[in-house]
Amino acid sequence: MRVVVFSTKPHDRQFLGAANAGRHELVFLEARLLAETAPLAAGAEAVCLFVHDHADAGILGTLAKLGVRHIALRCAGFNNVDLAAAARHGITVARVPAYSPHGVAEHAVALFLTLNRRVHRAYNRVRDGNFALEGLLGFDVHGKTVGVVGTGKIGACFAQIMRGFGCRVLAFDVARQPAVEALGVEYTTLERLLVESHVISLHCPLTPQTHHLINAGTLAQMRDGVVIINTGRGPLIDTRAVIAALKSGKLGALALDVYEEEEGVFYEDHSGAFLADDQLARLLTFPNVLVTSHQAFFTREAITAIAETTLGNLDDFAAGRPCPNALKA
Ligand code: NAI
Repeated sequence: MRVVVFSTKPHDRQFLGAANAGRHELVFLEARLLAETAPLAAGAEAVCLFVHDHADAGILGTLAKLGVRHIALRCAGFNNVDLAAAARHGITVARVPAYSPHGVAEHAVALFLTLNRRVHRAYNRVRDGNFALEGLLGFDVHGKTVGVVGTGKIGACFAQIMRGFGCRVLAFDVARQPAVEALGVEYTTLERLLVESHVISLHCPLTPQTHHLINAGTLAQMRDGVVIINTGRGPLIDTRAVIAALKSGKLGALALDVYEEEEGVFYEDHSGAFLADDQLARLLTFPNVLVTSHQAFFTREAITAIAETTLGNLDDFAAGRPCPNALKA
């Protein structure tokens, strides 16, 4: 089966190629799937997409006309695919629901510890011969209250790690997980979590309900100096509101692995140009903001699992078998 793989980087070609072992014809493209690049899927029965590929109703219509019948997402989130439109066009969609929730949770913890103990500043400082401690004061994590929004696979791992640090962990989710409660995590309302937490980490999916979950109103409910970590999806946070909260000092630190307008910026080298996004440029001026380029998933274990599950999903489609990772509209 011919599969056009959009948005590929060298690691995609390496790991997907190895997992494929020659059974499907994988056509690797660097281009993202957009209206203007959709015709590149001509001749393929399936396309393989990543987080910045757009599969909206118009693009799905183009893909369907070209004969594409399946979308294999090589990621967990599926907010970039219009599932209802895919169903109307007879295109099935499968994803990789879990690969390494530990890796993503560990990255969230890494961002938090780096920011709290100012490791990012200390690293540059000592290399410049500056061994002063001013500006590097952090706080003990032990005994602090950590709020976890979304306690699925990744949120549960994050909660477990923070329990290991000796934190009190509050959680908010639309569905309680007994296994998470067994870790000593206390489910509560979003309001109480916002009011009581010293650190808040976002692990819920992006939906109309969670869009701009962090906004001027919710920020106002939080403790002064609260730390927010987002490894979920960029639009969970209203960027303008967090910039205002950073300027006022309400927000003590902000760790972002995802950003509202990351498409076209993240995963590319812009070092020889300028940042056209003024909000991102502003965020990068704050010493207490740490941004990574949607890399929380980027571990050897995760990439291997993503490639193997994606190829398994493609095998299921090619064989006409029901796929356990299929998404329903
Ligand atoms: P999951 O599906 O296992 O867990 C999501 C949890 O969020 C579920 O328990 C669900 O009940 C809960 N939830 C849904 N709506 C909610 C709401 N309105 N308020 C509070 N909780 C709500 O997903 P998983 O694997 O834990 O991933 C979570 C998110 O992390 C993904 O949706 C994706 O956007 C993001 N992600 C980011 C990665 C990165 O590299 N930065 C890598 C993988 C996932």
